[in-house]
Amino acid sequence: MSRFLSKKHAGLAPYVPGEQPQSGRYIKLNTNESPFDVPPAVVEAARGAAEKLRLYPDPDCRELTAALAESMGVGPDQIVPANGSDEVLDFAFLAFCDGGRPALFPDVTYGFYRVFAAVNGVPYREIPLRPDFSVAVEDYAGLAGTVFLANPNAPTGLALPAERIRALLDQDRDRVVVVDEAYVDFGGESAAALIPEYDNLLVTRTFSKSRSMAGARLGYAAGSAALIADLNAIRFSVNPYNLDRMTLAAGAAMLKCEETVRANCRAVAAQREKTAAELAAMGFELTDSRANFLFARYPGADGETLYRALKDRGILVRHFSAPRTKDFVRITVGSPEDMRALTGALAEILEGCACVPQK
Ligand SMILES: Cc1ncc(COP(=O)(O)O)c(C=O)c1O
Repeated sequence: MSRFLSKKHAGLAPYVPGEQPQSGRYIKLNTNESPFDVPPAVVEAARGAAEKLRLYPDPDCRELTAALAESMGVGPDQIVPANGSDEVLDFAFLAFCDGGRPALFPDVTYGFYRVFAAVNGVPYREIPLRPDFSVAVEDYAGLAGTVFLANPNAPTGLALPAERIRALLDQDRDRVVVVDEAYVDFGGESAAALIPEYDNLLVTRTFSKSRSMAGARLGYAAGSAALIADLNAIRFSVNPYNLDRMTLAAGAAMLKCEETVRANCRAVAAQREKTAAELAAMGFELTDSRANFLFARYPGADGETLYRALKDRGILVRHFSAPRTKDFVRITVGSPEDMRALTGALAEILEGCACVPQK
């Protein structure tokens, strides 16, 4: 830390992203990327946009916003695009939280929420998940603040039906509820259909997972026109050109490939179920993940040991060292070959490793 850093950031504990080795040496099952490449039309669109890099991109992102609005069944003034959903979540912390309205989110959830609160100087309160890791929306009743709920949740993968989100919204129509639907396409139920009824609902989505575009950094939020106007006020005060030409073009092209996206999601969900069954047969305990990852532990073994043993065998998964998650590893659902390598490596680890209790 330099002596120039603002005192308000002195204690900042930045978010630590999953490892991103650039060598290609590892099978990457640690940051929930898609195993599928984008269709050629998307690459072509990005290439075409690159020819105009001399010019600023459209700050209103009109083409992409119109296409997103159509896909979500809302008006163009009900969509704000962003540089990954991380950015729009950050805007939401800045826009809708303050001293009197702390951010409210589960104790086990996307680790960035804590950092967004800290960097924006807003208080937060963690609401413990139930012992089975489920979210009980009753636990939010009577709490003032702004709720941030990943649905499906990360890293548990557990999903709430839209009717539970409705119950949460109904608890207090003057409290904003942000539903982070980064993983919804793999088997969750979207709350987007509730947008016309609730002006306190904001739904965030990403192109990083089901749409195979983690490298492009594209996300968005959908909600009432008033909430979106607030987020745009923040966006235009921070970075009006938050999306580059190539991402805008690639995103619009990707929205024309919905059948491919749906087929990819079905394949990932089927692979998830297959691998979950194989891991369960090996003695692992798993949550009922509706996302593109598995959250698994082996009784008696700690998650870090498994993470390290897999890394030694060229497979990267994610381990979170917090007390409630330290026994688990989070494993992205990859290609069938990746999953075969994973189950093979785990079988070898369980057989030969003294650090894991033998059956
Ligand atoms: C629950 C959740 N929300 C949001 C994000 C951010 O996604 P992105 O910024 O790539 O759109 C992630 C990324 O892993 C996530 O797990």
